[in-house]
Amino acid sequence: MIVTDSEKTISALCSDWRAEGLSVGLVPTMGALHRGHLSLVKTAVASVDRVVVSIFVNPTQFAAGEDLDRYPRTLQQDCEQVKKAGACAVFTPDTVTVYPEGFSSEVRVSGITEGLCGAYRPGHFDGVSTVCAVLFGIVKPEVAVFGMKDAQQLAVIRRMVSDLRMGVDIVAAPIVREADGLAMSSRNRYLSVEERGQAVLINTGLEKAVSLCRGGEKNCAVLKEAFLQTVSNASKLRVQYAEIVDPDTLLQVETAEKTVLLAVAVFAGKTRLIDNVLIRPEV
Ligand code: PAJ
Repeated sequence: MIVTDSEKTISALCSDWRAEGLSVGLVPTMGALHRGHLSLVKTAVASVDRVVVSIFVNPTQFAAGEDLDRYPRTLQQDCEQVKKAGACAVFTPDTVTVYPEGFSSEVRVSGITEGLCGAYRPGHFDGVSTVCAVLFGIVKPEVAVFGMKDAQQLAVIRRMVSDLRMGVDIVAAPIVREADGLAMSSRNRYLSVEERGQAVLINTGLEKAVSLCRGGEKNCAVLKEAFLQTVSNASKLRVQYAEIVDPDTLLQVETAEKTVLLAVAVFAGKTRLIDNVLIRPEV
């Protein structure tokens, strides 16, 4: 497996592969990899001939006061893990490589970036869509794999790729959870023992809404309340938002007639955790 921080090296490698008729897949990450990321790599390995994992803590998607400076960096361990998962290359550009002097462009997806996380992290999705557009431009993958853990990010990337005819097939991979149900996240390592203990209630609350819906409850206000009730007694948890939306448009829905997305952001102490579940009324 090749590890490189050079744009020239990675793009030459990918174009050689394409010239040999091999398909190329990209898994964009910010590193501090866990089983969630590795499941994306495995999904990519199953669908293309050569998989590139990018590791880049993208400064433009962090607002002032967010955790850019202390974002965990575990490059050596990350490389060992993605190698085992079957990746062929790891691209680890630095900031000047991604945003060279004179870089002046931005990809902004409107509409679906306004609600949910977008309402609390202004500019975040502009940073995400721009960096993904740059990475797609360098690697020129046929397939890129994103996790459903970041449901809004997935919807934004799908919109960008479709609007701008980028020709990248976006594949969604399911959320990977810890044994007790907490969605895996690079930020879970920030949690104190007490916060970690209570954070499990996020998934419990999502599952409560799912089972209520299975029992026939379709009123989204009631489903949402089931989530809020579950986390309400945990002293370390504070809900930033809990919304039930259409999974594609991310517009709020009142009745779960078809599949809806319950998306939440919850602070566990100072750590902001996001999670979601698709609620299928027919199941
Ligand atoms: P990062 O948070 O490192 O996540 C990289 C990819 O892993 C994303 O597609 C995310 O949805 C997926 N992922 C994270 N936790 C997961 C879990 N528990 N189960 C399944 N998939 C999971 O998302 C980003 O980086 C950045 O915004 C990026 C797209 C790389 C642009 O900078």
